[in-house]
Amino acid sequence: MGNIILIGFMGCGKTSVGIKLSYRMRQPMLDTDKLIEKDEGRTISEIFEKDGEPYFRNLETECIKKLTTTVNNQIISVGGGLPVREENHALLKKLGCVVYLRAKAETIYERVKHDTTRPLLQGADPQQKIRDLMEKRAGIYERAADVIIDVDGKDFDTVLDEIVMKCGEERSGD
Ligand code: S3P
Repeated sequence: MGNIILIGFMGCGKTSVGIKLSYRMRQPMLDTDKLIEKDEGRTISEIFEKDGEPYFRNLETECIKKLTTTVNNQIISVGGGLPVREENHALLKKLGCVVYLRAKAETIYERVKHDTTRPLLQGADPQQKIRDLMEKRAGIYERAADVIIDVDGKDFDTVLDEIVMKCGEERSGD
């Protein structure tokens, strides 16, 4: 369907890379967290608090299912936990070129340490939480992705060039 889908851990840069890619490609950008918040009329934190994580995960699956029948040639950034459900992998691949923005735990921590909007990283030891979740998820992101981009220490232009080149190769190989 010609979309580029950005996956990866919270704070890996999906939103900021997505916005820049959207300008570069002159394609609109969507974000599953934002779509869910809009549909539900409340924040992700409120959804987690009132209805719990499994409820939110169902909303995520419904959200990308809907996108597979409605969007073409767009940039789509998805919540960090969305690929954890294996059933979502086929939906992601159906949408287009799935790009994993891979970052080190230290990079992530530096970016999210003052953030209060991510319920999974609140609590006593966010640094340890990041390491634990990353260990569980690293292989999952790799399996879900068509291309992997290591983002640590790279500027935006370099990351964008790599995405455009690697997704182009993916498409011509289809
Ligand atoms: C989550 C990531 C968040 C958001 C929710 C859960 C996760 O999105 O969907 O807080 O499980 O990794 P971002 O990756 O955009 O922060």
